[in-house]
Amino acid sequence: MIRVPGDKSISHRALLLAAVARGESRLRGVLPGEDCQATARCMRAMGAHIPALPADGSEIRVEGVGLRGLRHPDQVLDCGNSGTTARLLLGLLTGAGVRATLTGDDSLRARPMRRVTEPLVCAGGRFVELGEEDRLPIRLEGGGGRPPSAGPLEAELAVASAQLKSALLLAGLTGDFEVVVKEPGRSRDHTERMLRQMGVTVGTTDHRDGSRTVHLPPRPDGAFLRPLDLEVPGDLSSAAFLMALGLLREGGPLELGNVGLNSTRTGILPVLRRMGARLEVRDLRDSEGGAGEPAGTVEVHPSRLQATDVTPSEIPLLLDEVPLLAVLAARARGTTRIRGAEELRVKESDRLAALARNLEALGVAVEEYPDGLDITGSEGPLTGAVGAEGDHRIAMAFGVLGALPGNRVDVDDPAVAAVSYPGFWDRLAELAGP
Ligand code: S3P
Repeated sequence: MIRVPGDKSISHRALLLAAVARGESRLRGVLPGEDCQATARCMRAMGAHIPALPADGSEIRVEGVGLRGLRHPDQVLDCGNSGTTARLLLGLLTGAGVRATLTGDDSLRARPMRRVTEPLVCAGGRFVELGEEDRLPIRLEGGGGRPPSAGPLEAELAVASAQLKSALLLAGLTGDFEVVVKEPGRSRDHTERMLRQMGVTVGTTDHRDGSRTVHLPPRPDGAFLRPLDLEVPGDLSSAAFLMALGLLREGGPLELGNVGLNSTRTGILPVLRRMGARLEVRDLRDSEGGAGEPAGTVEVHPSRLQATDVTPSEIPLLLDEVPLLAVLAARARGTTRIRGAEELRVKESDRLAALARNLEALGVAVEEYPDGLDITGSEGPLTGAVGAEGDHRIAMAFGVLGALPGNRVDVDDPAVAAVSYPGFWDRLAELAGP
């Protein structure tokens, strides 16, 4: 049974929330990848008691400082490559009234931030963009909440984004005000689940058109966050790379244990099944009534894949798996059409452009659209050089393609995989065989 490292999204949230709980949290399986290291470092700079993240995911204990216990940091908060760190911190710190400057690496400094800072202005956030418009570095000059007379902070998001939704919920949590966020589709709900685990009431209403409203009611007087006792499941987005290998390689089935199976993340599974993938989900551990995280075993068998259409409504549930789907499409019979994926242009790279460029470099027939790709699969060997463009998921997706018999794909910057999956290349080599 193969295990993949802990879920990145859940690990970020566990570090942030345990740090501001009251009492000692116990966290197992926290991802030691570079993105979560960035979250831990930023929080330590504000006085959070987060120990080193062990490479093997063994237990750490975090003594919380309380919802208003963070101090103004002396140094700039460097979020590295991590959009989740930057955006969730902007929310948490605005509510908490912490003054700080946030920055990141070249990739993160090219990503939009006003989608977070604009709604946070209504939470008292005062932001100064120190470089380009809409980009980090940003100085947060103050916040600290919203007068009760202003009523709840209400926001209707233009895109289904868990980072935006979470930023607003965290601002309400530390700033002690009510939040109502409507998102056009269901983005990952790890923040809501973890808050419930910590004793906070969070309501959700699903609407007929697929949109969802999330409600954080006002905090009762004197309320605090209960500490966490949490086992972070393996990251489905990391497991997906190995699942793809298991589908395309020759040989026996591949079994992945303790994989997170939150339904806001599992959109890749029905799409793979539609493509003809033989895969089974077993030993499903349930979610403790919407508070915990479901997890289970995923078994994949080598399969002949056929093309499919991936529709806009499916995208939020498989957002980070599009690079992988694109390389699977390159090995499937027929033309796969992916649409409604324009958000991929503002991820760690412009993923649609990076995928099109790299697939073309390998001789795959690909057509790029503003919101998607058409990819026609083939069977012949694929060889060539591809650029990771500083993006872990682009590097790993093409790594899978290169690990298949007959193919030779040189990825220029393999080290970037450590952002979300330390040890990825060793695991890939071991499973791909000679
Ligand atoms: C994440 C949300 C998604 C996802 C990212 C992690 C999170 O981003 O792509 O990898 O942990 O909240 P958006 O909120 O920008 O869609």
